[in-house]
Amino acid sequence: MQELNKETLFKLVEEASKVLKNSYAPYSNIHVASAVLTDTGRVYLGVNVENASYGLTICAERTAITAMITGGDRKPITVAVVTDLEEPIPPCGACRQVIAEFNPEATIIMYSVKTGKYVVKNLRELLPNPFQLEKQL
Ligand code: THU
Repeated sequence: MQELNKETLFKLVEEASKVLKNSYAPYSNIHVASAVLTDTGRVYLGVNVENASYGLTICAERTAITAMITGGDRKPITVAVVTDLEEPIPPCGACRQVIAEFNPEATIIMYSVKTGKYVVKNLRELLPNPFQLEKQL
């Protein structure tokens, strides 16, 4: 796992927390924000964007990863997922696969702004066998 110091952890959580209020979640009322730190040292942000056609909802992590690609970066090192729920939430399966496309070894921080509880895991643990065209099981 990539070395993650507390300073980086709380910087990413702080960055994500700043945009949490911009989350568009009128249907679930679950607000999520994500901050992606890349190998170039840049940080990209995203929030969940819901839709009246529920299935079109985009998670915060995928919004942040698309911002990373738009910004010209390719390798997420650490991804923070911040919510206003009591407990930290892990990235959904789709987001795990999308992060794994760019770094299957990314460090994932899950953090609740309500309680300050957090969990840190490696994406390998959350998604041991991501789908990869060039690699078979
Ligand atoms: N959500 C995320 O933004 N990230 C996740 O990894 C899990 C779920 C959002 C999607 C939806 O707007 C709300 O949380 C409830 O599912």
